[in-house]
Amino acid sequence: MSTNTMKGVGVVPEKKELRLVAHPEPSITAPNELKIRTLEVGICGTDREICTFAYGHGPKGCEYLVLGHECLGEVTEVGPGVKNFKPGDLVVPSVRRPCPDPNCTPCREGRQDFCFTWTFKERGINQLHGFMTEQFVEEETFLTAVPKELRDVAVMAEPLTIAEKGLAQAWQVQKRVPGWEHDNRDGKGRGFGRTAVVLGAGPIGLLGAMKLLIEGFRVFIYSRSPKPNFKADIAAQIGVEYISSVKMHTDDLAQQIGNIDLVYEAVGEGDVSFELARVLGINGVYIFTGIPALKSAIPVYADNIMRNITLKNQALVGTVNASPQAFVDAIHDLGEFKKRWPKALAALITGRHTIDAHRELLIGRAQGIKNVIQF
Ligand SMILES: NC(=O)c1ccc[n+]([C@@H]2O[C@H](COP(=O)([O-])OP(=O)(O)OC[C@H]3O[C@@H](n4cnc5c(N)ncnc54)[C@H](OP(=O)(O)O)[C@@H]3O)[C@@H](O)[C@H]2O)c1
Ligand SMILES: [Zn+2]
Ligand SMILES: [Zn+2]
Repeated sequence: MSTNTMKGVGVVPEKKELRLVAHPEPSITAPNELKIRTLEVGICGTDREICTFAYGHGPKGCEYLVLGHECLGEVTEVGPGVKNFKPGDLVVPSVRRPCPDPNCTPCREGRQDFCFTWTFKERGINQLHGFMTEQFVEEETFLTAVPKELRDVAVMAEPLTIAEKGLAQAWQVQKRVPGWEHDNRDGKGRGFGRTAVVLGAGPIGLLGAMKLLIEGFRVFIYSRSPKPNFKADIAAQIGVEYISSVKMHTDDLAQQIGNIDLVYEAVGEGDVSFELARVLGINGVYIFTGIPALKSAIPVYADNIMRNITLKNQALVGTVNASPQAFVDAIHDLGEFKKRWPKALAALITGRHTIDAHRELLIGRAQGIKNVIQF
């Protein structure tokens, strides 16, 4: 480890502090490692939650945790065992690292997103420093290559992996229903003929809507703020109808759009999420992405929802973290989004800031869609 230090954004949970830290410059210590210069780091609700000190702590023996898990970087140095990268390549790192349990099959097979033991570590979240600093070192296996033409949008790969994993699971689950998946010999997409509702129009919802569109679904966004607003404008740019939950009840939504085949929940609020679950259609699948803050119990139409789950053959599935394949798919799909909707995709990044704006971005009022710190 060199004695040079770099600027990083850190939380000190013991002191409930958010501050710039002087973080030691890392060096390669194993043949399969690479040194990477950080280019951009996205900020999301998870980072903001860590800054409320609800969870998140640094590696053993370090009082701070460097934040940041949505990252785009450029390789500057490669260890002798690195096979697929060279200096100058762009990369996106994944977040979760496998647990040590030899019997945890998902972790042993590179699928720590399904870790059984919950003793995994996560960069920028749990026991491993994140990427909100000038450089970092990472193993080759946790990196995905990014083509140069996606440099301006690839920082959104990590949040898009949530949709990639969610949809991959939905396709697996829906194999149970004959004919649910369009055979796609006409190239209209596997979701052609199916109706999807995205709940919420933040970065997770809007990226999810784009993913559902390229899969051929008829997509609606159901979210809080009435039109006009800038999130509804992006929905319009990608050809999706935006419906405000303030203006239309879920019963009317279901009446108007017909059988809801898929819901992609991206609000993280239990009340509206289960209210929408109540109108999920026959043979429908509901994908939860939201991570609500824990509050007191709320009334939901539990009997109604339960009857439907049984009688309408519904499936509920959660999505968190993602597989290496989901990262590859996310990079591929960002390329597709950029071809189809270059302006709308670029508009998801509503602010690019210097590290000095970290306090405002992390503990100030949430603004825009995706805010990014540039290094
Ligand atoms: N599963 C994972 O691995 C993972 C990863 C990242 C994030 N998440 C979670 O995913 C969720 C969405 O993230 P995000 O960053 O996109 O969130 P966000 O930026 O806060 O956006 C939430 C969206 O939901 C809408 N909304 C909020 N409450 C609503 C309500 N009661 N009724 C209707 N719409 C409502 C908001 O409407 P307005 O536009 O009116 O504000 C906004 O458009 C969060 O719960 C987050 O914690 C999960
Ligand atoms: Zn995130
Ligand atoms: Zn595990």
